[in-house]
Amino acid sequence: MQLIPLSPALGAEVHGIDLLNMNDSLLASIHAAFLRYGVLVFRKQSLDPQSFLSFAQCLGEPIEYPFVKGLDAFPQIIEVKKLPDETLNFGGIWHSDTTYLPQPPKATLLLAREIPAVGGDTEFACQHHAYLGLSEGLRKVLLGLSAVSSSAKADVSRTREDRLRDAGKEQAKAALEASHPVVRKHPETGQAVLYVNIAHTARFEGWSDEESASLLQWLHQHQVRSEYRCRVRWEVGSLTLWDNRRVLHYPVNDYHGYKRLMHRITLAGDRPLAFSSH
Ligand code: SIN
Repeated sequence: MQLIPLSPALGAEVHGIDLLNMNDSLLASIHAAFLRYGVLVFRKQSLDPQSFLSFAQCLGEPIEYPFVKGLDAFPQIIEVKKLPDETLNFGGIWHSDTTYLPQPPKATLLLAREIPAVGGDTEFACQHHAYLGLSEGLRKVLLGLSAVSSSAKADVSRTREDRLRDAGKEQAKAALEASHPVVRKHPETGQAVLYVNIAHTARFEGWSDEESASLLQWLHQHQVRSEYRCRVRWEVGSLTLWDNRRVLHYPVNDYHGYKRLMHRITLAGDRPLAFSSH
């Protein structure tokens, strides 16, 4: 297995590996690389839905997405789809997946089925680097705070409209909310991670939306600085695995008039715990 880093902050392409043939030693290497790089891109994989699910089950427990129905025979696999006549793309805003759940998913696997000839890349931003880029003073303030995530924030809700129309679940109407530490301790590496995102974070716990707005706005700008990012260019058969506890992602919506179809699985995660500097 060879690893080619995508940027100094995060991400690596993984070569010399066939995800249909897993064993304990390969899985241990993938897990170590996942913790080190946060985003892993496996190229040229021939995975049908069953083998995609089987690989995901080697890494954790696949869970269903609360808003959109999965494939008929595989409810844990959802389609992330944009059709040629659509303008909005699913999840088209910087985010970590479903932080409005009490236990947000630890990881996401996204497999490219159909992609435009050019465009439709996905960007990622490392939130450990984003934390390290803060001053001592601001870190101290943030270490004492929690923030409320909501599924009902308007900008992100709009990115789901097309998919809710044809594959929405009944519970899609209910708003989900959860409060998490603003700086979480990564449960496996122990690193401090900035854990807010523009898609879902509504306010700091105990603060009003208005009081929270300017500090959140500053953090959302800071946390996606170019030097914290990497970018994945897709090919059919590329599978990207990312660590939702450490990275934000952003699907670039620059391919109007073309179809893009991905299959997505998320893996169950822990309740986020606060990082302590002591
Ligand atoms: C998502 O899971 O938010 C979609 C990512 C993508 O389409 O690149």
